[in-house]
Amino acid sequence: MIIAIDGPAASGKSSTARGVAAAAGFVFMDSGLIYRGVALGFLEAGLESTADNAEISLQRFQIEITCIDRHMHVHIDGVDVTTELHTPQITKMASQVATLPSVRKRLFGLQRRFGDRYGANPGIVVVGRDMGTVVFPHADLKFFITASLEVRAQRRLTEFHQVGETPSFESVLGAIAERDRQDSERKIAPLKRALDAVLVETDKLTLAEQIDIIFRHVIEQSALKRV
Ligand code: DC
Repeated sequence: MIIAIDGPAASGKSSTARGVAAAAGFVFMDSGLIYRGVALGFLEAGLESTADNAEISLQRFQIEITCIDRHMHVHIDGVDVTTELHTPQITKMASQVATLPSVRKRLFGLQRRFGDRYGANPGIVVVGRDMGTVVFPHADLKFFITASLEVRAQRRLTEFHQVGETPSFESVLGAIAERDRQDSERKIAPLKRALDAVLVETDKLTLAEQIDIIFRHVIEQSALKRV
């Protein structure tokens, strides 16, 4: 079974998807991490995010994804970089390289093979911006998780505080608004809700409630598949 979850930056979709995967015993694939891996490759090679450099990058570094303990890991030139991909510099670069058609094309095959393989057994939860619309239009279940810009900024600010950083609310809100713009206005695979995706509006929900709502759908779908 393939469960596709999309939504804007800081909507809580990754935490929710991870929780759903754990509850269902499924593999978890965070496609944002793969774009972040490419961004790291660009940064380490000193490349700017231009279409020409996207072609060059194909020869400069190798990106692979593997499954370890039901979680997707990203490897650049054979090195597991999964835990190094959340710096502000990589976050900014990821949203830029994600607008490049040849980068998206290259990652499409990686994601599709991984998703179809683990979707068949034991099942997979895939999360990103274009999972339900482009990469897995054949997913068994699709969700679009959203929250207001203010709530998303507040959640991100809390995460910063937890690691001892103190940016202003306005700067966090501004950065998320800019990523929203870049993710939804790009020409190729923009962030949008698939017509058949269930909308989950999370302003007033806790993480546990979000996981529960989606997990109930998964149980229902599993029962339908068995009939
Ligand atoms: O979800 P995230 O913040 O880790 O994603 C990093 C960037 O990658 C984000 O700015 C948009 C891009 N992305 C994308 O274009 N398509 C996806 N399926 C996942 C992420």
